[in-house]
Amino acid sequence: HGVARVAMKRARKQGDLQATLFSDPAVRANPFPLYAQIRERGPVLKGSFLAATASHAVAGATLRSDAFGVVADPSTLPALPRWLMTRPDRTIGPVTPPSMLAVNPPDHTRYRRLVSKVFTPRAMAAMRGRVGELADDLLDRAERESRGEPVDLVSRYASLLPVTIIAEILGVPTEMRSQFIAWGSTAAPVLDIGLTYREFRRVDRAIRELNEWMSGHFARLRREPGDDLLSQLVRVENELTETELQAIAGLLLAAGFETTVNLIGNGAELLMQNEDQLADLRADANGWGNAVEEILRYESPVQNTARLALHDTEVAGVPVRAGTFLSVLIGGANRDPEVFDDPERFDIHRTNAREHLAFSSGVHYCLGAALARIEGEEALRRLFERYPNLAVAGRPLRRPTRTLRGYVELPVRLG
Ligand code: HEM
Repeated sequence: HGVARVAMKRARKQGDLQATLFSDPAVRANPFPLYAQIRERGPVLKGSFLAATASHAVAGATLRSDAFGVVADPSTLPALPRWLMTRPDRTIGPVTPPSMLAVNPPDHTRYRRLVSKVFTPRAMAAMRGRVGELADDLLDRAERESRGEPVDLVSRYASLLPVTIIAEILGVPTEMRSQFIAWGSTAAPVLDIGLTYREFRRVDRAIRELNEWMSGHFARLRREPGDDLLSQLVRVENELTETELQAIAGLLLAAGFETTVNLIGNGAELLMQNEDQLADLRADANGWGNAVEEILRYESPVQNTARLALHDTEVAGVPVRAGTFLSVLIGGANRDPEVFDDPERFDIHRTNAREHLAFSSGVHYCLGAALARIEGEEALRRLFERYPNLAVAGRPLRRPTRTLRGYVELPVRLG
């Protein structure tokens, strides 16, 4: 680890922008100027550790190309410092095979087809009422407990909404919810890059405990199915092994829990800072759908992903050699001036905001996108309708992660 860090620092001094991306703490707080620099140097920038793109055309084409695949075991990539990619490698987790996120077709096609059978856009749309009701309940509770003092919007609202919904989808009994939240928040950094060994151990332990509990849970659902989606999956799909089910449940928890919280937190902060745009939403509630798209574009909750070139290929006219590990800077692609006019401006009226890549593209396109959009819209609309004078009441604290972008703390006065 030490050697890799020194090499990274040296590369950074020599102007290697990718090394800067992964090791400069200032970049975590504000990566956007660096994305612009990377984009200005060309569509694909090759550094000493990996290649990167912040071009919308190249990012989209890479994600959709079958010449690229996800990396099942990053530690097998010789060029990468191991600490950069350390992830639980033996435990079945959200980013380890057979998780959908970590396998390529044809295995991917099979899992995705099975899960899509129960995770349909229709089933998601049917959840809108429940999401809204839960948002109201959470606000009631936050208001009651705040007694007029500032409250942390992240821990009291933005994080509780998605995790409760995912717990309901997975049929987790109410008395297990707080344990479930604890596992989820401990395990979620697995989605991030560059965990230290100590972080990795903590994450790994939480995932093992979750898997163990989940095994018993699957057995219960097989005996007494509920009306949750997981019961359907367990019942309908005798085709899935225990391990495959664990991977799916773990992925749904991590993906559904640690991403939408950032959409809600980032959105609340952006709208509090842009009162004129908030006033427009008050005048026309139909604007919320597009506002959520612009929040996803402007402050993408998942800032990057990566793909490995499986053979020599070309993306958007750029030749790429087999074995190239390409960091796809989603947050950079979403501010590409080739696609978005005046990209550094937050504008809920932008007509093509939906062209963002915040949910990725191609075969791994976010399975929960419809649900995330519903959660984002309901959570933000209800929050601002109820508290028209919502205001920041303290210093918002960004999460210290590079892949996930959001707040760990956002103190507000409900007003
Ligand atoms: C995949 C983003 C919410 C479930 C992805 C990917 C991204 C993403 C970028 C693909 C990564 C890649 O291509 O390497 C987001 C964002 C969300 C969100 C920004 C919220 C704002 C959710 C929710 C769920 C979910 C609520 C489920 C309840 C999944 C699953 C995959 C995935 C299962 C893997 C799909 C596959 O590999 O085929 N998400 N996600 N996500 N997401 Fe989401």
